[in-house]
Amino acid sequence: MRLDKFFSELGILSRKETQAAARAGMITVNGNVVKDPARHVDPDADAVTLRGERVCYRKFTYVMLNKPAGYISATEDGNLPVVTSLLPEQLQRMGLFPCGRLDRDTVGLMILMNDGVLSHRLLSPRHHAKKVYFFRCEARLDESDVSAFREGMKLDGEPLKSAVLSPDKGGLSGTVTLTEGKYHQIKRMFLQRGNKITYLKRVSFGGLSLDPTLAEGEWRYLSDDEIAILTANE
Ligand code: URA
Repeated sequence: MRLDKFFSELGILSRKETQAAARAGMITVNGNVVKDPARHVDPDADAVTLRGERVCYRKFTYVMLNKPAGYISATEDGNLPVVTSLLPEQLQRMGLFPCGRLDRDTVGLMILMNDGVLSHRLLSPRHHAKKVYFFRCEARLDESDVSAFREGMKLDGEPLKSAVLSPDKGGLSGTVTLTEGKYHQIKRMFLQRGNKITYLKRVSFGGLSLDPTLAEGEWRYLSDDEIAILTANE
């Protein structure tokens, strides 16, 4: 594979940027500076570095985004801003899509990827990845809410899986853990309990926690360890 393709497929540099970086002597292959962006590399065998850092090739790209309110969980929409518009053009061109949905006003951890098989597995009803949300609500929660969530409520006549509601001390905030993802699920569960969600943030998905250094609207690549955690979900 050509060096410029190697970098552009990873979403790290465009072809033009690879050309500039190569000319500036910032790229090495197996320890030798390579100034020709058309030079062929074997992604599995050759050691490529950019500005002194090793760059490993992988087929798919995975990122973590701290979703702000006001964005919808889609790749395109006629009217409203979509989460993928928060990524650089380079990544948007690589076909990244959100793995699962958050409501427009929900914030927090969103994983975007172009690995359809893994995304499908993480969201399929059989394997559905565990998701943890921090919430604030209008009315004070008590033990009866905790047991209702645990024993399984119904939405649209369908039984829900057992969910873990863990209120904080004052009972007006806490976390909910779900292993499924029905439309507006948490908001509707609270409404059924005569309560109302006023703030909702996803803090964990499939064993990954939201990076606390990411401000709302910021993203970063998943590390190899984080990708391994996601793929280990069964
Ligand atoms: N439950 C909701 O009600 N909204 C979300 O965005 C996620 C879970």
